[in-house]
Amino acid sequence: MSVDSGRARALRAGAERVLRANWRQGRYRDGTPYAFTCPATPRYRHQWYWDSCFHAIVWRRFDPGRAREELRTLLRAGRLDGFIPHTVFWDRPALWRRAPFYGTHTFLGDLATATIQTPLVALAWELVADASREEDPGFATEALDELRLHYDWLHRERDPDDDGLITIIAPDESGLDDSPKYDEAFGWMRHDLPGYFWLIERHRRVGFRCPEIVARYDEHVEDVLVNVVYALSLRALSRLLGEGEDGEYVARAIRTERALLHRCLDERTGLFFDLAGRDERPVRVSTWSSLAPLALPSLPEGVRRRLVEEHLLHPRRYLVPYGIPSVAVEEPSFKPGWDRFRTWRGPSWTNTAWLLVPAMRELGYEKEAERVVYGLAGAVERSGWREYYDPLTGRGLGAHGFGFATLLIELL
Ligand code: GLC
Repeated sequence: MSVDSGRARALRAGAERVLRANWRQGRYRDGTPYAFTCPATPRYRHQWYWDSCFHAIVWRRFDPGRAREELRTLLRAGRLDGFIPHTVFWDRPALWRRAPFYGTHTFLGDLATATIQTPLVALAWELVADASREEDPGFATEALDELRLHYDWLHRERDPDDDGLITIIAPDESGLDDSPKYDEAFGWMRHDLPGYFWLIERHRRVGFRCPEIVARYDEHVEDVLVNVVYALSLRALSRLLGEGEDGEYVARAIRTERALLHRCLDERTGLFFDLAGRDERPVRVSTWSSLAPLALPSLPEGVRRRLVEEHLLHPRRYLVPYGIPSVAVEEPSFKPGWDRFRTWRGPSWTNTAWLLVPAMRELGYEKEAERVVYGLAGAVERSGWREYYDPLTGRGLGAHGFGFATLLIELL
């Protein structure tokens, strides 16, 4: 099973049309120029951190200039101390009904949220820089100071117990908003319940300062996916800096990778679990985030193979006809066709495959990797570029013309 070149060409053309249709550029009210791809109208009209990184990764195939502009715009939304926001409201404020649910300091008028999202930017920057070698060789080094500041900020502000694992203070900071892995940790304040408003309001009152939040409250998580991407990005940053094997950022990446291995790996199941709250309770729910460490080449091969053989290729767990489900099929919380709000409670998203499929190939599970890509390609051909898909039927769900669904073409 593989996607032939004619189908691949058509999928690439379709992906480019989505990105072009969602492109936005202009000036913020203070004159700052912006250019980014909005995830999908009408639901997602703003700039989102990890979406922009995914968009830039795909844009580099069609128009590396736009890829560079999208990443530059994201950094421009950041603060001088290195913080980069989750959502940026460049061309329009959040709608009044949604505004209180965004992690902003005030209800109206902020340029951006004070929350973060899975910190992918250095990895995206490196990929775009590689594609810009001829056109714009300076891109690789033009933002090294800002990128360093950003990862230094995460290290300083988001790892209050200094164990190498960074913390999220709201479920959507990972990008996996309503994943059942947050049900227990955030309780009635989880993302898909009205109590989420109170979580954000409580953060507002302490200025979204993570060390204070961690000291006072129990609703926060050391998240596996976030830390996998953090480690991958620290390594990318280190390469951009030309640091060498004994560099500072590689050392930080290694620390995070070891912490994942020693503190999050559950020997019994072979899965990696988030650590929730002040007493760092392992969150024993099998979601695709538990498999994310597969993307870390530095982990022992046996640990990575177990993730593939005992989980990804297990028919009661992640082996489904369409993509990789966001939650294991055997979990009581698995809801394949759940389509209220955005959902990480079962459906397959393409960024999941984007992270895991290359690692499957690298470990020699070629056929199985092709199967995942083939299934997703079929779903896209049938229902278009949707936010997510029912893993059992391939039915498209959520937003239409969704930007980062186009990550599929990275796997063709
Ligand atoms: C939803 C998704 C999140 C994404 C955002 C914008 O909230 O859960 O991952 O970044 O939409 O597309």
